[in-house]
Amino acid sequence: MTRKLAAGNWKMNGTRAALENLSAIAEAHTAPSVDILICPPATLLMQSAGLTSGKPLDIGAQDCHAQASGAHTGDISAPMIKDAGGTAVIVGHSERRENHNETNDLVRQKAQAAHDAGLIAVICIGETLEQRESGQTLEIVGDQLTGSTPEGATPANTVIAYEPVWAIGTGKVPTLDQIGEVHDFIRKSLTDRFGEAAQDMRILYGGSVKPGNAAEIFAVSNVDGALVGGASLKEGDFSPIINALEAAV
Ligand code: 13P
Repeated sequence: MTRKLAAGNWKMNGTRAALENLSAIAEAHTAPSVDILICPPATLLMQSAGLTSGKPLDIGAQDCHAQASGAHTGDISAPMIKDAGGTAVIVGHSERRENHNETNDLVRQKAQAAHDAGLIAVICIGETLEQRESGQTLEIVGDQLTGSTPEGATPANTVIAYEPVWAIGTGKVPTLDQIGEVHDFIRKSLTDRFGEAAQDMRILYGGSVKPGNAAEIFAVSNVDGALVGGASLKEGDFSPIINALEAAV
Protein backbone atom coordinates (compact mmCIF):
# COMPACT_ATOMS: atom_id res chain seq x y z
CA MET A 1 0.00 0.00 0.00
CA THR A 2 1.26 3.43 -0.90
CA ARG A 3 1.86 5.58 2.16
CA LYS A 4 -0.76 8.10 3.18
CA LEU A 5 -0.10 11.70 2.23
CA ALA A 6 -0.36 14.95 4.17
CA ALA A 7 -0.09 17.71 1.58
CA GLY A 8 -0.07 21.46 2.11
CA ASN A 9 -1.03 24.02 -0.53
CA TRP A 10 0.28 27.43 0.46
CA LYS A 11 -1.53 29.12 -2.45
CA MET A 12 -0.41 32.75 -2.98
CA ASN A 13 0.98 33.05 0.54
CA GLY A 14 4.54 33.32 1.71
CA THR A 15 7.69 35.31 1.13
CA ARG A 16 11.14 34.09 2.21
CA ALA A 17 10.17 34.74 5.83
CA ALA A 18 7.73 31.83 5.53
CA LEU A 19 10.60 29.40 5.03
CA GLU A 20 10.89 29.43 8.81
CA ASN A 21 7.55 27.64 8.92
CA LEU A 22 8.73 25.10 6.39
CA SER A 23 11.84 24.35 8.46
CA ALA A 24 9.70 24.04 11.59
CA ILE A 25 7.44 21.48 9.87
CA ALA A 26 10.48 19.50 8.68
CA GLU A 27 12.05 19.59 12.14
CA ALA A 28 8.86 18.38 13.81
CA HIS A 29 8.65 15.28 11.57
CA THR A 30 12.04 13.68 11.10
CA ALA A 31 10.79 10.11 10.67
CA PRO A 32 7.12 10.31 9.65
CA SER A 33 5.14 7.18 8.81
CA VAL A 34 3.25 9.12 6.13
CA ASP A 35 4.44 11.16 3.14
CA ILE A 36 4.55 14.93 3.63
CA LEU A 37 4.36 17.39 0.73
CA ILE A 38 4.38 21.17 0.86
CA CYS A 39 3.53 23.22 -2.23
CA PRO A 40 4.82 26.76 -1.66
CA PRO A 41 4.48 29.55 -4.23
CA ALA A 42 6.79 29.14 -7.24
CA THR A 43 9.11 31.89 -6.01
CA LEU A 44 10.05 29.73 -3.01
CA LEU A 45 10.38 26.39 -4.81
CA MET A 46 14.15 26.23 -5.12
CA GLN A 47 14.89 27.49 -1.64
CA SER A 48 12.26 25.18 -0.16
CA ALA A 49 13.71 22.18 -1.95
CA GLY A 50 17.19 23.15 -0.77
CA LEU A 51 16.06 23.53 2.83
CA THR A 52 14.33 20.16 2.92
CA SER A 53 16.83 18.23 0.81
CA GLY A 54 17.50 14.82 2.35
CA LYS A 55 14.57 15.24 4.74
CA PRO A 56 11.29 13.28 4.56
CA LEU A 57 9.36 16.34 3.35
CA ASP A 58 8.77 16.77 -0.37
CA ILE A 59 8.25 20.03 -2.22
CA GLY A 60 5.76 20.57 -5.03
CA ALA A 61 4.38 23.38 -7.19
CA GLN A 62 0.79 24.59 -7.46
CA ASP A 63 0.43 24.54 -11.24
CA CYS A 64 2.40 23.87 -14.42
CA HIS A 65 2.00 24.60 -18.11
CA ALA A 66 0.96 21.76 -20.40
CA GLN A 67 4.06 22.28 -22.53
CA ALA A 68 7.67 21.70 -21.50
CA SER A 69 8.95 25.04 -22.80
CA GLY A 70 8.08 27.85 -25.18
CA ALA A 71 6.59 31.31 -25.58
CA HIS A 72 4.28 31.31 -22.54
CA THR A 73 5.06 34.44 -20.57
CA GLY A 74 4.55 34.01 -16.85
CA ASP A 75 4.08 30.26 -16.89
CA ILE A 76 6.35 27.59 -15.48
CA SER A 77 6.74 24.09 -16.87
CA ALA A 78 6.89 20.67 -15.26
CA PRO A 79 10.59 20.15 -16.18
CA MET A 80 11.36 23.53 -14.52
CA ILE A 81 9.64 22.37 -11.33
CA LYS A 82 11.62 19.16 -11.43
CA ASP A 83 14.82 21.11 -12.01
CA ALA A 84 14.01 23.34 -9.01
CA GLY A 85 13.86 20.26 -6.80
CA GLY A 86 10.10 19.66 -6.84
CA THR A 87 8.68 16.15 -6.88
CA ALA A 88 5.00 16.96 -7.43
CA VAL A 89 2.63 19.54 -8.85
CA ILE A 90 -0.99 20.35 -8.09
CA VAL A 91 -3.10 20.58 -11.25
CA GLY A 92 -6.73 21.58 -11.72
CA HIS A 93 -7.22 23.28 -8.37
CA SER A 94 -10.70 24.81 -8.33
CA GLU A 95 -9.18 28.27 -7.95
CA ARG A 96 -7.37 27.75 -11.25
CA ARG A 97 -10.37 26.14 -12.92
CA GLU A 98 -12.40 29.18 -11.91
CA ASN A 99 -9.91 32.07 -12.17
CA HIS A 100 -8.11 30.82 -15.28
CA ASN A 101 -10.93 28.94 -17.02
CA GLU A 102 -9.09 25.64 -16.86
CA THR A 103 -11.00 22.75 -18.42
CA ASN A 104 -10.73 19.03 -17.70
CA ASP A 105 -8.93 18.66 -21.01
CA LEU A 106 -6.28 21.23 -20.09
CA VAL A 107 -5.89 19.77 -16.59
CA ARG A 108 -5.30 16.34 -18.13
CA GLN A 109 -2.62 17.79 -20.41
CA LYS A 110 -0.96 19.43 -17.41
CA ALA A 111 -1.04 16.14 -15.48
CA GLN A 112 0.47 14.43 -18.52
CA ALA A 113 3.22 17.08 -18.62
CA ALA A 114 3.88 16.36 -14.94
CA HIS A 115 4.15 12.63 -15.62
CA ASP A 116 6.44 13.21 -18.60
CA ALA A 117 8.75 15.27 -16.36
CA GLY A 118 8.78 12.60 -13.65
CA LEU A 119 6.55 14.53 -11.25
CA ILE A 120 3.57 13.34 -9.25
CA ALA A 121 0.38 15.04 -10.46
CA VAL A 122 -2.01 15.97 -7.65
CA ILE A 123 -5.23 16.26 -9.64
CA CYS A 124 -7.98 18.29 -7.93
CA ILE A 125 -11.68 17.74 -8.50
CA GLY A 126 -14.80 18.86 -6.66
CA GLU A 127 -18.31 20.22 -7.03
CA THR A 128 -19.66 23.70 -6.33
CA LEU A 129 -22.41 24.28 -3.76
CA GLU A 130 -24.93 24.80 -6.55
CA GLN A 131 -23.96 21.47 -8.12
CA ARG A 132 -24.24 19.69 -4.78
CA GLU A 133 -27.60 21.21 -4.01
CA SER A 134 -28.94 20.16 -7.38
CA GLY A 135 -27.81 16.56 -6.81
CA GLN A 136 -25.06 16.61 -9.44
CA THR A 137 -22.07 15.91 -7.17
CA LEU A 138 -21.16 12.41 -8.37
CA GLU A 139 -21.78 13.28 -12.00
CA ILE A 140 -19.52 16.36 -11.82
CA VAL A 141 -16.82 14.61 -9.81
CA GLY A 142 -16.97 11.63 -12.19
CA ASP A 143 -16.64 13.83 -15.28
CA GLN A 144 -13.75 15.78 -13.76
CA LEU A 145 -12.01 12.59 -12.68
CA THR A 146 -12.29 10.92 -16.07
CA GLY A 147 -11.52 14.07 -18.05
CA SER A 148 -8.59 15.28 -15.94
CA THR A 149 -6.73 11.99 -15.34
CA PRO A 150 -4.32 10.84 -18.06
CA GLU A 151 -4.38 7.28 -19.38
CA GLY A 152 -0.97 6.51 -17.88
CA ALA A 153 -1.95 7.34 -14.29
CA THR A 154 -0.49 5.00 -11.65
CA PRO A 155 -0.36 5.04 -7.85
CA ALA A 156 3.26 6.25 -8.17
CA ASN A 157 2.59 9.25 -10.41
CA THR A 158 -0.95 10.35 -9.53
CA VAL A 159 -2.83 11.55 -6.46
CA ILE A 160 -6.49 12.55 -6.61
CA ALA A 161 -7.66 15.37 -4.32
CA TYR A 162 -11.39 15.70 -3.73
CA GLU A 163 -12.01 19.30 -2.75
CA PRO A 164 -15.63 20.45 -2.66
CA VAL A 165 -15.40 24.07 -3.82
CA TRP A 166 -17.81 25.23 -1.12
CA ALA A 167 -15.61 23.74 1.63
CA ILE A 168 -12.42 25.55 0.59
CA GLY A 169 -11.48 28.33 2.98
CA THR A 170 -15.00 28.52 4.37
CA GLY A 171 -14.82 26.44 7.53
CA LYS A 172 -17.70 24.36 6.10
CA VAL A 173 -16.98 20.66 5.81
CA PRO A 174 -19.19 17.97 4.25
CA THR A 175 -20.56 15.37 6.63
CA LEU A 176 -18.39 12.28 7.03
CA ASP A 177 -21.03 10.33 5.09
CA GLN A 178 -20.81 12.80 2.23
CA ILE A 179 -17.01 12.56 2.17
CA GLY A 180 -17.22 8.75 2.27
CA GLU A 181 -19.76 8.64 -0.54
CA VAL A 182 -17.56 10.66 -2.89
CA HIS A 183 -14.31 8.91 -1.95
CA ASP A 184 -15.90 5.46 -2.43
CA PHE A 185 -17.22 6.64 -5.79
CA ILE A 186 -13.78 7.92 -6.84
CA ARG A 187 -12.15 4.62 -5.81
CA LYS A 188 -14.71 2.64 -7.81
CA SER A 189 -14.31 4.87 -10.88
CA LEU A 190 -10.53 4.55 -10.71
CA THR A 191 -10.79 0.77 -10.31
CA ASP A 192 -13.17 0.50 -13.29
CA ARG A 193 -10.63 2.36 -15.40
CA PHE A 194 -7.24 1.29 -14.05
CA GLY A 195 -7.96 -2.07 -12.45
CA GLU A 196 -6.58 -3.31 -9.16
CA ALA A 197 -3.71 -0.78 -9.20
CA ALA A 198 -6.29 1.86 -8.35
CA GLN A 199 -6.51 0.43 -4.82
CA ASP A 200 -3.13 2.03 -4.16
CA MET A 201 -3.85 5.39 -5.77
CA ARG A 202 -4.11 7.97 -3.04
CA ILE A 203 -7.34 9.93 -2.71
CA LEU A 204 -7.02 13.04 -0.53
CA TYR A 205 -9.78 15.11 0.99
CA GLY A 206 -9.36 18.90 0.92
CA GLY A 207 -11.48 21.78 2.19
CA SER A 208 -11.25 23.32 5.68
CA VAL A 209 -9.20 20.47 7.16
CA LYS A 210 -8.06 21.64 10.61
CA PRO A 211 -6.42 20.05 13.65
CA GLY A 212 -9.90 19.70 15.19
CA ASN A 213 -11.54 17.72 12.39
CA ALA A 214 -8.60 15.86 10.81
CA ALA A 215 -8.86 12.63 12.82
CA GLU A 216 -12.54 12.04 12.04
CA ILE A 217 -11.99 12.77 8.34
CA PHE A 218 -9.01 10.37 8.22
CA ALA A 219 -11.19 7.63 9.67
CA VAL A 220 -13.51 7.75 6.63
CA SER A 221 -13.12 4.92 4.12
CA ASN A 222 -10.94 5.64 1.09
CA VAL A 223 -9.52 8.85 2.58
CA ASP A 224 -5.75 8.46 2.18
CA GLY A 225 -4.75 11.88 3.44
CA ALA A 226 -5.50 15.55 3.00
CA LEU A 227 -4.71 18.53 0.83
CA VAL A 228 -4.63 21.36 3.34
CA GLY A 229 -4.71 25.07 2.56
CA GLY A 230 -4.80 27.59 5.41
CA ALA A 231 -3.84 25.11 8.13
CA SER A 232 -0.65 24.10 6.29
CA LEU A 233 0.94 27.54 6.62
CA LYS A 234 1.98 27.14 10.25
CA GLU A 235 3.75 24.24 11.91
CA GLY A 236 1.43 24.53 14.92
CA ASP A 237 -1.61 23.83 12.74
CA PHE A 238 -0.13 21.40 10.22
CA SER A 239 1.73 19.16 12.68
CA PRO A 240 -1.41 17.95 14.48
CA ILE A 241 -2.93 17.12 11.09
CA ILE A 242 0.16 15.08 10.16
CA ASN A 243 0.02 13.39 13.56
CA ALA A 244 -3.67 12.55 13.08
CA LEU A 245 -2.90 10.96 9.72
CA GLU A 246 -0.10 8.91 11.25
CA ALA A 247 -2.50 7.73 13.94
CA ALA A 248 -5.23 6.76 11.45
CA VAL A 249 -5.42 3.11 10.51
P1 13P B 1 -8.40 25.28 3.00
O1 13P B 1 -7.76 24.14 3.77
O2 13P B 1 -7.82 26.61 3.35
O3 13P B 1 -9.88 25.20 3.04
O4 13P B 1 -7.97 25.06 1.45
C1 13P B 1 -8.12 23.81 0.88
C2 13P B 1 -7.47 23.84 -0.46
O5 13P B 1 -7.93 24.47 -1.38
C3 13P B 1 -6.22 23.07 -0.61
O6 13P B 1 -5.85 22.97 -1.95
